[in-house]
Amino acid sequence: MSGKDNPLVFELSRTGRRGYRLPELDVPAREPGSLVDPRLLREKQPRLPEVGEVELIRHYTALSRRNYGVDLGFYPLGSCTMKYNPKINEQVAAFEGFTRLHPLQPESSVQGILGLMYELLAALSEVTGMSWGTLQPFAGAHGEFTGMKLFKAFFEKRGEQGRRKILVPDSAHGTNPASAHLAGFDVVEIHSDSRGLVSLESVRDHLDESLAGIMMTNPNTLGLFEEDILEISAAVHEAGGLLYYDGANLNAIVGKVRPGDMGFDVVHLNLHKTFSTPHGGGGPGSGPVLVSETLLPFLPVPEVVKRNDGYHLDNDRPDSIGRLSGFYGNVAVMVRAYAYLLTMGRDGLARVGELAVLNANYLKERLKASFDLPYDRICKHEFVLSARRLKERFGITALDVAKRLLDFGIHPPTVYFPLIVQEALMIEPTETEGLEVLDRFVAVMERIADEARQSPETLRQAPGNTPVGRIDEGLAARKPIVRWHPEDES
Ligand SMILES: Cc1ncc(COP(=O)(O)O)c(C=O)c1O
Repeated sequence: MSGKDNPLVFELSRTGRRGYRLPELDVPAREPGSLVDPRLLREKQPRLPEVGEVELIRHYTALSRRNYGVDLGFYPLGSCTMKYNPKINEQVAAFEGFTRLHPLQPESSVQGILGLMYELLAALSEVTGMSWGTLQPFAGAHGEFTGMKLFKAFFEKRGEQGRRKILVPDSAHGTNPASAHLAGFDVVEIHSDSRGLVSLESVRDHLDESLAGIMMTNPNTLGLFEEDILEISAAVHEAGGLLYYDGANLNAIVGKVRPGDMGFDVVHLNLHKTFSTPHGGGGPGSGPVLVSETLLPFLPVPEVVKRNDGYHLDNDRPDSIGRLSGFYGNVAVMVRAYAYLLTMGRDGLARVGELAVLNANYLKERLKASFDLPYDRICKHEFVLSARRLKERFGITALDVAKRLLDFGIHPPTVYFPLIVQEALMIEPTETEGLEVLDRFVAVMERIADEARQSPETLRQAPGNTPVGRIDEGLAARKPIVRWHPEDES
């Protein structure tokens, strides 16, 4: 955003202006071409802004003030668990003993981090009720892909290449079918029933020799616990299939119920959601994968193992699906998760799920008078409202509601997901918000519902108080302009 009142750092640039002073050179000057292969040198100087220290500081401070994060305000972005991340985890992840490590150091010099990785995997196995796993994947979606490769390896080893069908509920996150497809499976969508759940009926027709398995999120993306999970897992196993657990929603049940006890064979977790890493805009993430005993032989290598003489990186898994990351995964996220697990302990983790569920149900009950609630049931950590009636009556969409929330300094919920709810507003308050914040959110949402009736134009024009107003989102996504050129300013 350029302009007289908000000049860009490039517009402030004046030739020769500097924000630093270097000491006089006390060694002979060398031409750049004598230090670096001249073919690698740039032909023209880069066009960098030349500014003093004060302009530079104001530039970055202004940018940071345009940003929004959970440290600034409420962030009820459904399915993303944007909870407050305790700062002690950041401090621990910034310890030089972690940040100065190099992945090619000899094992004997990295015993600390190898020990942390081993202990973290042990703790995550306990939390999920699984046997062991890998920390290599860099995101939830990467974990899903890993899980699907594990399914593939399992069936190939058994000579059951004909098992190609993966069932995916219509409420699933889009990464689920994408991961299954990428790993070479055929995706079959199954429909949620009137409860918003996957029923045994809906999977029964698919229980044949082509079934590889089912991917389920529990609680699902409507925030509802899949009540028939035990019957479904028994039926899928009986038919020779496997169950995959998308752990993006673990925050709702952490410390209370374990995917392993529900019968899942592979689980991925989003450490950046449940286990305290500030994330957004694509990172940073970590999607560890945990497996039941049957799938242990196929886990990625290298694996951190513990022997009498310490921790080692072991490649001895002949049936392994191989590496999923250049080295060992996103180490800083692992450190935060480990610190979080230690500070919370078993009881603290159980409290996380309880409070996340309490907060979501409180908001749901208070908001259902002003917005449609398609599935009016006790929810887990999140729930999905619909702006369908506002659209029919006043032409106000979920997007309008979301944009108006920005004017009140609140990050909007996830909109238009899950796909099975029209004009969806998916709200996840998380356990770290107090009653006052929730009550203010209710008041703002009620006001927005009133505005839809009384002054719909305010909503259509929103946001009005933000540095950037309503944009054409389709155009912005397809033709993003992410850099500035003086020539562009005409
Ligand atoms: C239910 C669900 N599954 C999977 C994912 C994928 O996780 P990631 O964004 O870390 O790849 C998400 C992400 O938001 C999710 O909400």
